Amino acid sequence: MSKEKFFTAQEIERMPIHIAAIMDGNGRWATKRGLPRTAGHKAGSETFRRAAEFMSELGVKYFTVYAFSTENWKRPAEEVKVIMTLFERYLNEAIESMAEKNIRLNFFGDTSVLDGKLQKLIERTQQISTAQSGLCVNVCINYGGRQEIAMAAKKAAEEVVSGKIKADDITHELLSRYMYSADIPDPDLIIRPGGEQRVSNFLLWQSAYSEYYFTDKLWPDMAEADFVEAIKSFMNRNRRFGGLK
Ligand code: FPP
Repeated sequence: MSKEKFFTAQEIERMPIHIAAIMDGNGRWATKRGLPRTAGHKAGSETFRRAAEFMSELGVKYFTVYAFSTENWKRPAEEVKVIMTLFERYLNEAIESMAEKNIRLNFFGDTSVLDGKLQKLIERTQQISTAQSGLCVNVCINYGGRQEIAMAAKKAAEEVVSGKIKADDITHELLSRYMYSADIPDPDLIIRPGGEQRVSNFLLWQSAYSEYYFTDKLWPDMAEADFVEAIKSFMNRNRRFGGLK
C-alpha cells in the first residue's frame, strides 16, 4: 500500500483531505521534445489518471484539477479539440472503471456549452458516481473562479428578488452553497507545477486558506515522489486560519 511506503503513521494522520492541482506545463513538455503541444496534453492526461489513482491510494478524499479554463477557448481550435477529445476518452474509460476503482467524478464549470456528446458522458459519470463512496475527483472544465463567484452572486440576487431570502441573509456561508463546490471542503493544498507562481482564476473563493505548493517540474513529469514532496511540505506548515496558532 503506497501510503505506508511514503508516509509515517503520524504523517498519515495529517494527510490533506482535499488536494487541487493546476495541470500546467503540458505545452512546454512537448515542445522540449520537438513534439506538437497536443502531445503534451496527451501525456498530461495520463499523469492526471495516475495522480487520481495515487490520491485514492493515499486516502485523500477530494482531488480537484484544472483541466480547461474559461480563458482556454482563446487557444488554437486544434488544441482545444484535442483537449476535449482527451477529456471524452477519459470519461469513456472512467465509466468502465469507476465502480471498480471506487472513484467519483464531479465537474466544476459551465458544461452547458460543451459538445452534446461530452455533456451526455458527464451526466452518465455523475449518475455512476452517486453509487461510489471513494475519492471524489472534481474536474474543472470551462471553469473560472471569477465566473463562479458571479454565478453564486446572481443566484443569491435572484433569491432576494423572488423573496426567498433577504439581502441580509447573504453571508459567505450562504454564497458557498451556490458555488460548484457546495458540500465539498475547501482545498487544503493546491499544487502548481510548471514554474509559474500565480493563481490563474482557479478556485478563487475556495482557496482563502489553502496552502500553495509550486514546483518547476512540468505537469507530465509529475510522479508519485513529486506529489509526496508536495504533501510533506504541506504537513510541515503551520496553518493558522487567521488565528495565532
Ligand atoms: C496547461 O498547460 C494545461 C491545459 C490548459 C490543459 C490540461 C488538459 C489535460 C491535462 C488533458 C485533458 C484533461 C483531462 C481531465 C483528461 P499548458 O498547455 O498551458 O502548458 P504550457 O504552459 O507549457 O504551454
